[in-house]
Amino acid sequence: MRMTHELVDILEHEPIGTWFGVGGAADRHCRPGSVEAVAAAMAWAREHGERLRVLGDGANLLVDDDGVDGLVLDTRELNAVEIDETMGKVRAGAGARLPQLINETVRAGLGGLEVLAGIPASVGGAAVMNAGGRFGSIADRVRTVEAVDPVTCHPVTLERREIEYGYRRSGLGGLVVVGVEFALEPASPESLRARLLECMAYKKKSQPLKADSAGCCFKNPVLGAPVDGIGSPGDRVSAGLLLDRAGCKGMREGGAEVSAEHANFLVTEKGGRARDVIALMDRAAARVREAFGVELEREVVVWGQGEESAR
Ligand code: EPU
Repeated sequence: MRMTHELVDILEHEPIGTWFGVGGAADRHCRPGSVEAVAAAMAWAREHGERLRVLGDGANLLVDDDGVDGLVLDTRELNAVEIDETMGKVRAGAGARLPQLINETVRAGLGGLEVLAGIPASVGGAAVMNAGGRFGSIADRVRTVEAVDPVTCHPVTLERREIEYGYRRSGLGGLVVVGVEFALEPASPESLRARLLECMAYKKKSQPLKADSAGCCFKNPVLGAPVDGIGSPGDRVSAGLLLDRAGCKGMREGGAEVSAEHANFLVTEKGGRARDVIALMDRAAARVREAFGVELEREVVVWGQGEESAR
């Protein structure tokens, strides 16, 4: 069924594409193509008492097998990219794909984003979660964020200094991000490409990039007590290393498995279900708790009927 609204179509029972390749559908789904259409969809959800969930590239998302209630606002149509080479300014819609944006900025001779090579994400999702890795985080390059305020349903623009950023988090949670402007620096495309390849090579060496997965499942924790051979209190340490040392590699639950290449990656095979991944995450986290007394927090966002949970 299709409900037609002046600015945005709202479809029913639409599948939600995620990188895990498992999980159910959205009760209602829309794909607005403009900021006005985003605001209209948000107003529609509020009017109808529907929970609103924002979908980026589905790169860090696990959807429950039973799907989700409410309205899923898919940002993929908001994918315009504008590059001003002389001013070092780049503006990308929330639905633009980060890897493609990185390639375009490298080609244009604008440096700063190439250190995020190999991170699958939409620009909006990356800005909200402060995507990053060993070589930097997206917050380092954000100049402004354009969003729609959930209360007023009006567009707002936030300067970088107004946004609270931390490790894999931001204060942007309640807003619907529609675009991001980046501050980049001129550099030769050749040197940027070399750096990009270096970052990619690091990932290829240590991560199962070909398998279906949503990247790292858990955030890297800060240790409260020393862990032998891993770190001292206050250190942020690799969740993958802890999971590996706790013997999680190769653990299985139905069609989900802890990757043998990097223990913070859970990979799924055909026929795998979201509940397999959730059960495996819980079992792996329990092993780390028992082995080291460290509580792992999920980086993967889980959507389920009624509730959205980060843990
Ligand atoms: N290690 C192991 N076994 C494992 C995993 C890691 O021994 O199973 C060791 C590695 O050999 C290395 C150390 O642990 O000595 C750290 O590993 P890595 O460099 O892979 O970094 P990480 O802290 O595990 C972080 C990000 C990744 C990002 C990499 C590289 C988080 C939660 N993870 O992983 O991000 O790709 O650095 O930049 O911040 C993601 O967020 O989805 C993600 C994959």
